[in-house]
Amino acid sequence: MSLLEQIDKQRLPRHIAIIMDGNGRWAKEQGQDRLYGHFHGVESVRNIVEGCAELGIGYLTLYAFSTENWDRPAYEVNGLMELLIDTIRKEVDTLNRNNIRLHMIGDMQMLPESAQHELEEAMELTGTNTGLNLVMALSYSSRWELVHAMRQVAEDVKAGKVDPGAVTPALLEQYLCTRGIPDPELMIRTSGEFRISNFLLYQLAYAELYFTPTLWPDFRKENLYEAILDFQNRERRFGKTSEQIAEVPTGVISKDSIGRF
Ligand code: IPE
Ligand code: IPE
Ligand code: MG
Repeated sequence: MSLLEQIDKQRLPRHIAIIMDGNGRWAKEQGQDRLYGHFHGVESVRNIVEGCAELGIGYLTLYAFSTENWDRPAYEVNGLMELLIDTIRKEVDTLNRNNIRLHMIGDMQMLPESAQHELEEAMELTGTNTGLNLVMALSYSSRWELVHAMRQVAEDVKAGKVDPGAVTPALLEQYLCTRGIPDPELMIRTSGEFRISNFLLYQLAYAELYFTPTLWPDFRKENLYEAILDFQNRERRFGKTSEQIAEVPTGVISKDSIGRF
């Protein structure tokens, strides 16, 4: 049986988040410049977006550029930004043909104004699509997001719109970039690094983590299927005991059944 056939379509992760890492090392292996690796990474993005859309995954978040990545050499930052914006512009028609809706999370104000407009336009043009939700994390970091959210909560408290006692996880979630997006259930990181690198620290609270040595430009649908199969073989307990999990029919335990505090 192929990997795809082995996947239980009734128990797919609703949201997959990916740290697309290893472009630089891939390029180095080929004796090429780092930008060559980023360029080839786009092919993996196309392939994985297509794979997720075919499977019927609800949300795919791709970590494309972190707040910390702004500190890389200027030539790499500029080349990468150009590649990202250019790719999004060129892919809008394909996204529409495949009913994919584009979302962005991150500090868009760090981007040049023209790029901000392009991205807003791409989101608007795909805004009524009802298939896969493709979330691009661009100029994103979790600490930036949380600090930004706290500031806004503080402003609203100061303005008398929010009572401090009413600040709950559900309220805080309304202030995050991921408002309205369910938490990732599966987080994949490529390139053999075992870290989170400031990605969705709050939202990944109960995600299953999957690490693979494959470098991002080599990552294809088959690798995605392997990660999903691994996910499907895990027991997600959400703080409960194994016996408690066995009592509940599959699918009933979800983030919503975790006690709110
Ligand atoms: C991931 O590849 C892409 C970005 C972080 C933008 P890297 O550029 O980090 O590649 P490595 O980790 O140096 O191999
Ligand atoms: C994480 O990769 C960010 C993205 C993939 C966009 P990095 O390559 O920047 O992370 P570190 O530096 O290895 O932690
Ligand atoms: Mg890296």
